[in-house]
Amino acid sequence: MAGPRTLLLTGAAGGVGTAMRELLPGYGYDLRLFDVTPIETGPDEAPAITADLADTEAVRRAVRGADAVVHLAGISLESSFDDILRANVQGTYNLYEGARAEGVRRVVFASSNHAVGFTPSPSAGEPPIPADVPHRPDTFYGLSKCFGEDLASLYWDRHGIETVSIRIGSCFPQPTSVRMLSIWLSPEDCARLLHAALTAQDVGHTVVNGSSANTRQWLDLASARALGYEPRDDSEKYARKLIDEQGELDLENPEHARLGGRFCTAQPPLWQQPASRP
Ligand SMILES: NC(=O)c1ccc[n+]([C@@H]2O[C@H](COP(=O)([O-])OP(=O)(O)OC[C@H]3O[C@@H](n4cnc5c(N)ncnc54)[C@H](O)[C@@H]3O)[C@@H](O)[C@H]2O)c1
Repeated sequence: MAGPRTLLLTGAAGGVGTAMRELLPGYGYDLRLFDVTPIETGPDEAPAITADLADTEAVRRAVRGADAVVHLAGISLESSFDDILRANVQGTYNLYEGARAEGVRRVVFASSNHAVGFTPSPSAGEPPIPADVPHRPDTFYGLSKCFGEDLASLYWDRHGIETVSIRIGSCFPQPTSVRMLSIWLSPEDCARLLHAALTAQDVGHTVVNGSSANTRQWLDLASARALGYEPRDDSEKYARKLIDEQGELDLENPEHARLGGRFCTAQPPLWQQPASRP
């Protein structure tokens, strides 16, 4: 069976979306870009759709005729419960309802390590964290990713829509903290993982961890590799500089002791603080 060709990419104006907009066409996909933030497209791109996930009609039109959806849109940091509810919970529901109504059969959902953020960080010599650990959200944001994963499960069992939920570690051009060395997903590996998630057969609802092949790895990639994902990058090349600046990772430090890092410890809670990426 040929893989999907026309992809709806929600959250296309964001950090990951912008990188995927560059990388995914190299795998043969035609992208349909969607974001509440306007996107200026180039001559080789279809005009982007500017709409809010709250707009059910716009979401349904965006999904119509797509072969698959890569769902990145939403609030990507901690925020107030009401904002998270609207963008990440109601918004993801609207997306799946659109997919159901329009007959789209495959979604890749950008979940997060923060869905299981209170999981203890593995110490040296301990096995990495598998993708089947129980939900332990560290924020309202993490909780919304638990909801998204469970929604995907429901839409598979009930409506036959297949989803790969990717618990992304940290997807940025390069890691910026010693914690990120253990969970970094390079943009190029992210595109490899999305392609594997879009083309693997019979995924039902599969949850995978999303990271590169990091020397200091915290995340078990077995279920991602089972989809055909072969990471090529390793954060180790950034380690020396970050350790010189920030010191070694220390699991006695509460900010390092749990997978979710500062999302688990921040006082006052992160949603009462200006946005930052721990
Ligand atoms: N970057 C990471 O390290 C990381 C880690 C874990 C999970 N994730 C998840 O991956 C996805 C992409 O992350 P990112 O870093 O690119 O985030 P980002 O904040 O840079 O991008 C999110 C995009 O979603 C759009 N958006 C927000 N609310 C919307 C709405 N109601 N309707 C339409 N569009 C809306 C924003 O305009 C933005 O362009 C997010 O779902 C995030 O939670 C990212």
